[in-house]
Amino acid sequence: MTKSNNTIESVGEAELRLADGNTVKLPVFKGSEGEHAVDITKLRAETSYIAFDPGYGNTGSCESAITYIDGEKGILRYRGYPIEELAEKSSFLEVTYLLIYGHLPSESELETFSDAISQESMIHEDMKRFFNGYPATSHPMSILSSMICSLSSYYPDCLENAPEHIDNNISRLLSKVSTVAAFSYKKSIGHPFIGPLNKLGYVENFLNMMFAVPAEPYQVNPDVAKALEMILILHADHEQNCSTSTVRMVGSSQANLYASISAGICALWGPLHGGANQAVIEMLSGIVDRGGDVAGFIQRVKDKEPGVRLMGFGHRVYKNFDPRATILKSQSAKVLKALGLSTPLLDIARQLEEVALKDEYFIERKLYPNVDFYSGIILRAIGIPVNMFTVMFAIGRMPGWIAQWKEMFDTPGLRINRPRQIYTGSEKRLYVPINKR
Ligand code: ACO
Repeated sequence: MTKSNNTIESVGEAELRLADGNTVKLPVFKGSEGEHAVDITKLRAETSYIAFDPGYGNTGSCESAITYIDGEKGILRYRGYPIEELAEKSSFLEVTYLLIYGHLPSESELETFSDAISQESMIHEDMKRFFNGYPATSHPMSILSSMICSLSSYYPDCLENAPEHIDNNISRLLSKVSTVAAFSYKKSIGHPFIGPLNKLGYVENFLNMMFAVPAEPYQVNPDVAKALEMILILHADHEQNCSTSTVRMVGSSQANLYASISAGICALWGPLHGGANQAVIEMLSGIVDRGGDVAGFIQRVKDKEPGVRLMGFGHRVYKNFDPRATILKSQSAKVLKALGLSTPLLDIARQLEEVALKDEYFIERKLYPNVDFYSGIILRAIGIPVNMFTVMFAIGRMPGWIAQWKEMFDTPGLRINRPRQIYTGSEKRLYVPINKR
């Protein structure tokens, strides 16, 4: 285990007795919040055994000082600050700075950071032509991941991963991801691109690129901007989840920042990860369309009908509540009220939650609403089309991916990530020529 900071503490040894009767002593470490880990890095060299942990549910793949989660207690902190406080008091760019550089920015640091991001808001004119190559029905996540990877062609200085270029590449990525996302939406509805306006804040600029049209004036609704700001903050990092681990996995081969993040976007797309926010709205709309039969739907989930899950419920780490879902639940009601919208999907979501939390199936499996359960209701209320929901998640998660990639690069002794396996295939056998099979 590489020691990258002084918060990991050696606290003795664990003794492991193997099937052959031999024992091995393994170092034990403690993190800054008291979580313990057995260091098995030398296990194979000393015993020929490997650790087996499909799905990595119990594997610490790195040290990290960025995000702390206690899934049993429902705690989430970025760099030590509780998510509840950041969601209420901070801006998305402030949180972005915090995650990437480790401290809350001073006024001048934040101004410099925001300016650097604004200056990078346009995309190369040639890249605009890429959008014409995609069918109108393309999922915007496929466009986003390939466009982000393509940025490495336009900024080849990223290929060296040299420290003097990292900050520029970070500002570019944070800025251009929102431009590419908004353009992919405009392309899908056949509207002209609305270029970035650097005088606007990050969130306002994104909303302007999404919803302004040349034919009439557009004013960003402050309630909408505030709601989106909060959603982005809540999604900004979540330690070693599937997409972040993907970013680290790809980055560990020393692939550049854009390529690593593009891979993370693909990982996020899946319905068991970031794609769940889209799946939740589709599920809620389906229940409304079928007359609002919540009990019937829950029964289908419990019967494990193929393809039927209570989307937005359950989490690998949270076995109590997901603090992000708690914030989003109360905010969704406020946003709908502020925008004067009706609440059929929110009503169904609340009913589903109420029924599920009292049901033995969900209780014994410790299944609670996760971040995706209520986020889609807010996204829909502020006018984001359903197929853009996961793109919004990607914009929000960008600071976390970048922070984790940077932390990995800044850690001395970076090694390529390379898990092992238990081989279960056939033993050595003789090759049979095709005419004899
Ligand atoms: N609805 C119904 N049953 C569920 C659900 C659910 N949402 N989630 C888990 N279960 C059941 C499983 O069927 C399994 O039951 P079993 O023991 O009878 O076989 C048990 O609970 C354990 O589930 P696993 O799938 O093994 O849990 P895992 O930790 O691997 O998966 C996951 C976590 C992927 C989030 C899962 O709960 C799920 O599919 N949820 C719905 C999709 C979702 O909301 N994803 C977003 C997660 S948050 C995020 O990525 C941003």
